Amino acid sequence: MRTQVLIIGAGPAGLLLGQLLHKAGVDNLILERQTGDYVLGRIRAGVLEQTTADLLDEAGVGARMHAEGLVHHGFDLMVDGQRHHVDLHRLTGGKSVVVYGQTEVTRDLMQARAAAGLPTFHGAADVQLSGFDTGHPLARCTVDGETVEVRCDFIAGCDGYHGVSRASVPPGAIQTHEKVYPFGWLGLLSDTPPVSHELIYGRHERGFSLCSMRSSTRSRYYLQVPLTERAEDWSDARFWDELRRRLDPGTADALVTGPSLEKSIAPLRSFVAEPMRFGRLFLAGDAAHIVPPTGAKGLNLAASDVRYLSQALIEHYRERSDAGITHYSARCLSRVWKAERFSWWFTGLMHPLPDEPAIDARLRRAELDYLVGSDAAMTAMAENYVGLPW
Ligand code: APR
Ligand code: PHB
Repeated sequence: MRTQVLIIGAGPAGLLLGQLLHKAGVDNLILERQTGDYVLGRIRAGVLEQTTADLLDEAGVGARMHAEGLVHHGFDLMVDGQRHHVDLHRLTGGKSVVVYGQTEVTRDLMQARAAAGLPTFHGAADVQLSGFDTGHPLARCTVDGETVEVRCDFIAGCDGYHGVSRASVPPGAIQTHEKVYPFGWLGLLSDTPPVSHELIYGRHERGFSLCSMRSSTRSRYYLQVPLTERAEDWSDARFWDELRRRLDPGTADALVTGPSLEKSIAPLRSFVAEPMRFGRLFLAGDAAHIVPPTGAKGLNLAASDVRYLSQALIEHYRERSDAGITHYSARCLSRVWKAERFSWWFTGLMHPLPDEPAIDARLRRAELDYLVGSDAAMTAMAENYVGLPW
């Protein structure tokens, strides 16, 4: 079979790209390894920058986000038992973020794709890519035991950190940068009212904590844990007790606990692959970069990659211009590295390291003291958190 743009991966990046291309009349097809239910079963962060929310509107999938998403004008930093409000709205001249789970973004995109009758092959096994460096891209895979071949003009690798797209690039043509953090995030999802109307990022000598939410009745909490920990060793009671210990007394008293719907430990890493284009193969989203979740940048970076890539491909077909294609990688990476820096900085600031030298702890303490006492420092944090301009 043949299509203009073949997309590998039906996560947020692949689905959003498919929707934007479709709306511009560019033919596309998605090959996805997992089932749709499996993809929807992933619990992922959901803090949308305004530009991401705008892009979902442009893709025609913003209705439920506007109806159910929570607009947040700020968040709290809790440092050694003191809460400090980061007034995003004031510090950024009126910007805010939308709290709306990635699962819901993915669901909205899946439903829009199905409603448009666009082809997505779920259960696509052993995807193999070739010809993207000779002008004749080709994908082979197995679907329901049958061999499927897809010829196309371009391949969009939206298949995440463990995908086949980046792995298909000749090793000498790609450079990767990686930092793995010596701790993980133990996350718990519960149908309990959030402890606060906004997010609370907490730093305590026992470790980082995050109080987040999915709605006014569903909460998401995280604890920094050593990489040796296993989620199955954390009973709900143990989780709630440890979270209370890391919160200020007033917040701990206000915490409403309940049975966990999901508990898991995620590692933290910073990762970037350069460049993000190889002939007629493009990388977008987690296939090209990973950020520690502290800054909630993962989904937003995927959205900005997809915006640049969809514009470049539409320009190729509509205007017979390849300027966007030529500049795709540099445009993405300029934004990616700024988000990587912010996520790395925020992660280092909020996560105590058990064996760090005393002077490093003191220097970090001084940075926190400066941050919470300086409008200039808080403004710098706020403008990165709401998202730097496109
Ligand atoms: N063949 C086909 N599909 C694949 C393959 C493969 N070889 N490998 C992976 N996939 C699919 C995965 O099953 C997944 O559905 O590609 C999709 C990639 O989706 P994500 O990992 O969610 O990546 P992306 O769409 O870039 O979204 C980035 O997800 O991980 C979070 O924090 C991250 O919020 C960010 C968002
Ligand atoms: C989440 O709600 O899962 C979440 C929110 C903000 C973050 C990370 C995760 O920075």
